[in-house]
Amino acid sequence: MDTFLIKGGQRLSGSIAVSGSKNSALPILAVSLMTGEACRFGNIPTLRDIQTQVKILNTLGVETQWTGRVISTLMRDTYNSTAPYELVKQMRAGVCVLGPLLAARGEATVSLPGGCVIGERPIDLHLKGLEALGAEITLEHGYVHAKAPKGGLKGAEIYLGGKFGSSVLATDNVMCAAALAKGTTTIECAACEPEVVDLADCLNSMGAKITGAGSPRITIQGVRKLKAANWSVIPDRIEAATFVLAGAITRSPITITGCRPSHMLAMLDVLRQMGIHVERKATSLTIVPEQRWKATEVVTLPHPAFPTDAQAQTMALMSLAEGTSTITERIYPERFMAAAEMKRMGAKISVANGQAIIQGVEKLSGAEVMASDLRASAALVIAGMAAQGETLISRVYHIDRGYERIEERLRKIGAKITRVSSGQPEQALAAGG
Ligand code: EPZ
Repeated sequence: MDTFLIKGGQRLSGSIAVSGSKNSALPILAVSLMTGEACRFGNIPTLRDIQTQVKILNTLGVETQWTGRVISTLMRDTYNSTAPYELVKQMRAGVCVLGPLLAARGEATVSLPGGCVIGERPIDLHLKGLEALGAEITLEHGYVHAKAPKGGLKGAEIYLGGKFGSSVLATDNVMCAAALAKGTTTIECAACEPEVVDLADCLNSMGAKITGAGSPRITIQGVRKLKAANWSVIPDRIEAATFVLAGAITRSPITITGCRPSHMLAMLDVLRQMGIHVERKATSLTIVPEQRWKATEVVTLPHPAFPTDAQAQTMALMSLAEGTSTITERIYPERFMAAAEMKRMGAKISVANGQAIIQGVEKLSGAEVMASDLRASAALVIAGMAAQGETLISRVYHIDRGYERIEERLRKIGAKITRVSSGQPEQALAAGG
């Protein structure tokens, strides 16, 4: 299992480009199941989660060719319609093939995602939405089997909110299924994330008729078939936020290029509250470094509010703030795995009932820590870059799921970070994502 060795306290300089969005690419690649035509997907990041999604699509009969940042796909004539547990357990987001499969083939069998380190990953809202379109859903042996009625799926008015509010992938699954259903579907309490808008825009480029994406009410007028997709995904707003936080915590005037600041307003507002100024252009952000920053309070909520995926990384910045900050996690109340590891570095964090209280300290000290999930790993990298001395982060396969060659890219802007390969096979990926 690979580890990262980080020598903290280095000032960064220059600019770092943001990759394509993992959370956009995963559901958008699944639309290759919805057309018999050859598709082309651009700005695809080279990540383990994308590799897993490609394997799932191959299992489902999609031929793929991956060259650089482009994945080309074509449906084979013969295929099966089961997304297997051994792949879906590696990446919960594999469930996003459910809606496209049901829409295209009238039936789908997908492994239940189960839980993962950031919390339970239920799919009750996905199933509720597909049932509303007329699908017959059965759960057996850890798999969901969905079957469309003889006459095909029918449009419906669907309330898709759950106890944590809207659901990104449930919105995606229902939107895809409704795109080829008969009649009109309205999704109320739809997820408003930019990645949902990207998927809707991609489907519309294929001939779908979707309006309202990005708002809580999405309307989908079903069409008979979809043309080829030729689509490049949006920049990764969470990776961009991670780099902004790396610049802030190391007091470095770096520029993050190729990003969409308009997708990051809640994150930028938290930095403003903390007294950190970020110069903003249409597709880039430049940190104006501060010696010290102020504590603040953050609550994670569905977009456009503060994203849960940037919460752990922000906690790292808060650990060195002046004063006491709080983070209230309203999406995944258990998602504080990074806290225990940061405390090994001298952070003062207490976690209870879905809230973290972070008492700012003057410095962090390097230590041996362990990555536990994708975003917690990124938080440990940021903390290590700011800490005094050396930090050794084990199990970095977690970070490879969502950040492309992060150590190489951070080194290019001055970070002292190297990957130490143990040469041992990596553990089966813990679930998440
Ligand atoms: C997406 O997961 C993201 N993954 C997650 O990013 C992100 O944390 C999450 O949205 C929230 O923003 C991808 O887009 C691939 P949800 P998703 O359904 O769609 C509950 C990362 O780090 N819920 O929006 O699976 C659920 O338990 C990953 O890149 C139900 O109760 O998340 C959670 O509390 C991690 N029933 C809340 O809703 C359901 O049927 C939001 O989950 C579905 C979800």
